[in-house]
Amino acid sequence: AQSLRDLAIRHGLYVGTAVDMAVLNDAADPRYRELTASEFSTVTAENVMKWESLEPTRGSYNWGPADELVAFARQHNQRVRGHVLVWQNQLPSWLTSGVENGSISKAELRQILRNHITNVVTHFKGRIWQWDVVNEAVSDPWDNPSTLHYKGFWAQHLGPDYIADAFRWARAADPKALLFYNDYNIEAFGSGNPANDKTQFVYDMARDLLAKRVPIDGVGSQGHLGTQYGNYDTLQVAAALKKFAGLGLATAFTEVDVRSQLTAGVQAGDSAEINPRLQASAANFSVLLRACLAERHCLSFTLWGFTDRHSWVPGWFSNPPEGLATVYDENYQPKRAYQEIKADL
Ligand code: XIL
Repeated sequence: AQSLRDLAIRHGLYVGTAVDMAVLNDAADPRYRELTASEFSTVTAENVMKWESLEPTRGSYNWGPADELVAFARQHNQRVRGHVLVWQNQLPSWLTSGVENGSISKAELRQILRNHITNVVTHFKGRIWQWDVVNEAVSDPWDNPSTLHYKGFWAQHLGPDYIADAFRWARAADPKALLFYNDYNIEAFGSGNPANDKTQFVYDMARDLLAKRVPIDGVGSQGHLGTQYGNYDTLQVAAALKKFAGLGLATAFTEVDVRSQLTAGVQAGDSAEINPRLQASAANFSVLLRACLAERHCLSFTLWGFTDRHSWVPGWFSNPPEGLATVYDENYQPKRAYQEIKADL
């Protein structure tokens, strides 16, 4: 059977997965490594390029696991999405506590951010296809719909100008890498869609950055969906992509998974054949993929993990428990969602 990567590349589309380096190196679980290599043409580090992993102690970088992923990608002819340069989560504690206790000033914090971006982008120079320069900087539509705003550690301590700075510093360090803004709840745009306001906010942000000649090349839509929210609409998903492409930007789906609540008769190990929730999951993968295939500027479609054996969902969404969010089951059997993706390609 043909792989997803072979089918996708005929459309010029790269299909990817987030990679957990501990599992990739687990000799007792070889199927993970095999499928990562054979099915995907782009990879993203699930955690090892985040700040807390790269610089757990101030001034001493731990490049090992990230370098290993980049080498793996090279060996298997895969492109790398760099994830992530600036984000409020998974920051090292020396940084967050230093800011909280006042030992790191605003001016020093800005310099620390500049150094981090420069060091990391320079280290991987020439090996990263797309960088997620800034991740999840905007509040959520339902928090307070009329006052969407720049949220989190960086906006709080540096003000929203850190976003333009971050893109400029990244471009200076590797002029060839494509620089992305990445977020969730910007997957769709259209009549009655709850994500409209956030999508519009990110659109306005990108337009303003471009007007100021800030080097942004693309907007990434994460694509963490859940079957409890119903089915997305292909036209609305395409409309969100078209908005960004209308600014001359590339787009990508960067972290796709479709989780289900494990209550109400849905159990780990259930299959789509017996459970309508999982048919909805499969359908949503297909909705995002078809919108991407229809849009020339949608460069890649990356899954946030490909097997229910190793997915962030059960650990993250536990009340109520959620899971079954990926395209292979816990025994590496392809699920309905995998078949749908294949059929769309
Ligand atoms: C998640 C990882 O999958 C987990 O292993 C980790 O514990 C927390 O972060 N949005 C992002 C990703 O941009 O970096 C997050 O990854 C999932 C949500």
